Amino acid sequence: MKVVDSILEASSLYHVYESKAEDGNVVALRGIHIDIKAGEAIAVVGPSGSGKSTLMKCLGGLMKPSSGSVVMAGKNMTRLSGKELVHLRQKTVSFIFQEGNLLPDMNARDNVAQPLRHQGMSSRKALKLADEMLDRLGILPRAKALPAKLSGGEQQRVAIARALITNPRLILADEPTGALDPITSREVLALFKDLHENDGVSFLIVTHSKEVASFADRSLELRDGRFVAEHGVGVDVEDLSRNRELIIDETGTVTLPPDILLRIGGPGKYMVGDIDNGHLSLTGEKIAAIGKLELAKVCPACKYDYGDSDDQLCPACGSSRPMVEVGS
Ligand SMILES: Nc1ncnc2c1ncn2[C@@H]1O[C@H](COP(=O)(O)OP(=O)(O)O)[C@@H](O)[C@H]1O
Ligand SMILES: [Mg+2]
Repeated sequence: MKVVDSILEASSLYHVYESKAEDGNVVALRGIHIDIKAGEAIAVVGPSGSGKSTLMKCLGGLMKPSSGSVVMAGKNMTRLSGKELVHLRQKTVSFIFQEGNLLPDMNARDNVAQPLRHQGMSSRKALKLADEMLDRLGILPRAKALPAKLSGGEQQRVAIARALITNPRLILADEPTGALDPITSREVLALFKDLHENDGVSFLIVTHSKEVASFADRSLELRDGRFVAEHGVGVDVEDLSRNRELIIDETGTVTLPPDILLRIGGPGKYMVGDIDNGHLSLTGEKIAAIGKLELAKVCPACKYDYGDSDDQLCPACGSSRPMVEVGS
């Protein structure tokens, strides 16, 4: 049997942003489990505020989760010293954010070379490798330009060159094409595909784009800090409602996507029937509804207007369509 190693494995991740403000603490992650196998590409979809960026930061060791463990390339990050953590990150993972990836006072070439210099490589060698990478991404002619002089697409390609220069085994990307025009975003995606298929690089990509999500082997849907559904191999985001699994976390919490909630009869009281291993049957009891619910007219994540359609998933970003109270 072939054993596939995990490149990143997190369990029971919780994160609370503490605040003294009136609205109090924000629980951004509520018991996340994820296992990314070496060479796997996973998309994370979900509405704004669902905890996607917090998750990426915790998984990449940029932020310490309030509790839970993250194991990267076999090492438990929560138990490493600051220095060990930096070293592990440097040789394993690179980040790509939506924007603001580059150091403003350095030209493109120096930005790309910077992680290698950081690792102690001589400047000459680092710059030579940086030029090769810029060439691979088709932006060598812009090597001497400062970020402010580059277009959004060029900046993102420089950021990707910098992410790739260390030969990472895993790329964590937070809406990497979110600020790009469709053509540039397609080019970036083609590059990711090439790295995934030919170099075996693993990806975890937060995205609102159907195209990016369909590049992934599977997609996970995040809502209110929990994975509420997993969408299988090669599944188009549009098909999610037909091809998904619900995930029950170790606290026993299961969050139903709105369309499923609607189909079983909406929020209310349910009686538990016979319990069998692997089966749970619920029967709804009629209760006073909390007001009449209807499908939201506009996607809360990307503002897509559903018009007259009764789609359950946003055709533009793949988020589940929520129910809203009529008249509210
Ligand atoms: N630095 C912070 N301090 C307090 N609350 C935060 C902070 N960053 C994010 N949050 C809150 O945590 C939740 C998840 O945010 P985030 O991870 O940015 O979600 P997403 O990337 O899916 O939009 C939101 O309710 C957000 O307001
Ligand atoms: Mg975010």
